[in-house]
Amino acid sequence: MLRFPDGFLLGTATSSYQIEGGNVWSDWWYWAEKGKLPPAGKACNSWELYERDIEFMAELGYRAYRFSVEWGRVFPEEGRPNEEALMRYQGIIDLLNENGITPMLTLHHFTLPTWFALKGGFEREENLEHWRSYVELIADNIEGVELVATFNEPMVYAVASYVEGMWPPFRKNPLKAEKVAANLIKAHAIAYEILHGKFRVGIVKNRPHFIPASDSGRDRKAAEEIDYTFNRSMLDGIMTGKFRGFMRTFDVPPSGLDWLGMNYYNIIKVKAVRNPLKRFAVEDANVSRKTDMGWSVYPRGIYEGLKAFSGYNLPLYVTENGIATLDDEWRIEFIVQHLQYVHRALEEGIDVRGYFYWSLIDNYEWAEGFRPRFGLIEVDYDTFERKPRRSAHVYGEIAKNGEVSDELLEKYGLGEI
Ligand code: FCB
Repeated sequence: MLRFPDGFLLGTATSSYQIEGGNVWSDWWYWAEKGKLPPAGKACNSWELYERDIEFMAELGYRAYRFSVEWGRVFPEEGRPNEEALMRYQGIIDLLNENGITPMLTLHHFTLPTWFALKGGFEREENLEHWRSYVELIADNIEGVELVATFNEPMVYAVASYVEGMWPPFRKNPLKAEKVAANLIKAHAIAYEILHGKFRVGIVKNRPHFIPASDSGRDRKAAEEIDYTFNRSMLDGIMTGKFRGFMRTFDVPPSGLDWLGMNYYNIIKVKAVRNPLKRFAVEDANVSRKTDMGWSVYPRGIYEGLKAFSGYNLPLYVTENGIATLDDEWRIEFIVQHLQYVHRALEEGIDVRGYFYWSLIDNYEWAEGFRPRFGLIEVDYDTFERKPRRSAHVYGEIAKNGEVSDELLEKYGLGEI
């Protein structure tokens, strides 16, 4: 049996655009209408069905819930906040608290209000004033939540939107990407100053586990480099005031973090390449069968990540960890094995305070649309009917009891790790 400490949060995660539906004020919606992205439509219709979602969490025994505010909903137009939308988010927080479910709030989870995006979004430093107004609005109106994350996966956002050109505004310009990343650090600093004191303010970093494709010195150096750039450079920027981008170093205001969130999904191999513009290539590590995202599963990576991040001396949360698969037995195995490694981190004295499975329900997986299914709860996108999978109940038992039973470990676990 693996017991988690009292107060350890075992919960689930979602984000607004991926579940709410009808977020017509957001840049993803704008670009979907232009045919550049899969339409989100009503998504899971959680804007209307949020009470049902929370009821499920309570019934199943989940202890915490990470979700996000849709900035475009609360600021549909420049300078004009929408009070009703704000009240809704407050209502969600209140209902969670009434049910003994600890809320965690993310302020930016990839989407922007369209008006802000059309002004150049985070590319332009002067636009940070709009971010400031949004954060102030939250600070002045939202209560009953302790844990607030400024940004979800800021480096993923900068790279997918400005290097790979997969997400709005579809640019392929690393110089712009690093400027955006620097501006996100500045935006974090602005938010920290406003929010700290009222909330415990953190940031959520995605951390793939990078390994060298071979033992060669060049591959090892490439793996170290990408690990630094992708996994640590922004955090170091926040802590030290010097952000080492892809090509340039930026002076940023050193600011604070009260906690650090880690999203962990997969392991990736890194190969050095002889091309001065592209120093390395990445490929799937092929250590397991692939999930429906084409990712390789490697439970030990969650422990390696927590160990690496423990160097920042902050309380850590696993803010996302999950699997896209229709094979629900595999989902159970995935959860049990990753929790084994979270537990090992705890045993070694690493300050981990919670684990949030991604996701509570199947949802809109960005450029992939609705195909990948990460949910503990299955969603029928025609009727919006929710059906808990077996994994939802198994994870519920784990969350309720604060432990992974011997029976589960025997059937799904990794044995001695
Ligand atoms: C993370 C995102 C989250 C979800 C999962 C699968 O990178 O934060 O919104 O899409 O991946």
